[in-house]
Amino acid sequence: MRKAIIVGASSGIGKGLALLLAENGYQIGITGRRAELLQELKNRTPDQFLTKTFDITDGETTVVMLEELVAELGGLDLLIISAGTGDINHHLDFGVEKNTIDTNVLGFTRIADWAFNYFEKQRNGHLVAISSIGGLRGSGQAPAYNASKAFQINYLEGLRQKTHRLKAPVFITDIRPGLIDTEMAKGEGLFWVMPVEKAVKQIYRAIIRKKKIMYVTRRWKIIAFILKRLPVIIYDRM
Ligand SMILES: NC(=O)c1ccc[n+]([C@@H]2O[C@H](COP(=O)([O-])OP(=O)(O)OC[C@H]3O[C@@H](n4cnc5c(N)ncnc54)[C@H](OP(=O)(O)O)[C@@H]3O)[C@@H](O)[C@H]2O)c1
Repeated sequence: MRKAIIVGASSGIGKGLALLLAENGYQIGITGRRAELLQELKNRTPDQFLTKTFDITDGETTVVMLEELVAELGGLDLLIISAGTGDINHHLDFGVEKNTIDTNVLGFTRIADWAFNYFEKQRNGHLVAISSIGGLRGSGQAPAYNASKAFQINYLEGLRQKTHRLKAPVFITDIRPGLIDTEMAKGEGLFWVMPVEKAVKQIYRAIIRKKKIMYVTRRWKIIAFILKRLPVIIYDRM
């Protein structure tokens, strides 16, 4: 049985992926801060899920919990980082920005590094992270969120370069969603918001194919193409 960990599986994309991996026969360690939601998920097929409740902004606990999960699972083939946060922050409340950075930059890096080192030592494994199309450009509505996602995109690219030098089957997949109908999707004028079930099917296919980068859903690739090329003089006025 293949072994996976999903960090941030109590809701949204992480939960959807946990259900899909379970359907496909994986044994999965699921994490989040909301223990009751993790337990609800585990109750569906208790033999397939192990739960750990922790906050990824607490670096030391995060590593201890990941180590415990791997020991209880008896190995690890796939680690998915879906935990993330971000808020609209019109008045630049520093607390909001700090929470985003603590979670999406520091928490993310701690887990990505742990997973990379584990897979490097094992000489096999797959790290998947859910970044965002938002990481392609800045945002006046949520500056720290987009900047943190740019960090993730760049960091994952760095790790991918490292895997190339390993000459071993260690893979890095960067999933860049547009808008998916979860608690995270906030703001005005949202469009092309996709149901979680549809998005996670595409993400699962990208994982199986060991894709390097994947825009979800596929039509968001067009937006990414345009975003990357929009001149600053136009982007600044949007
Ligand atoms: N939905 C979208 O439109 C969209 C678009 C682009 C990118 N994304 C990215 O997709 C990822 C998943 O988000 P989602 O849309 O599925 O939203 P979600 O339903 O809010 O899920 C976020 C998950 O992250 C966990 N989490 C957040 N902060 C945490 C912390 N400090 N410690 C541990 N776990 C934490 C949450 O669990 P607890 O609250 O139980 O801790 C939850 O399981 C995020 O990285 C987000 O940036 C989403």
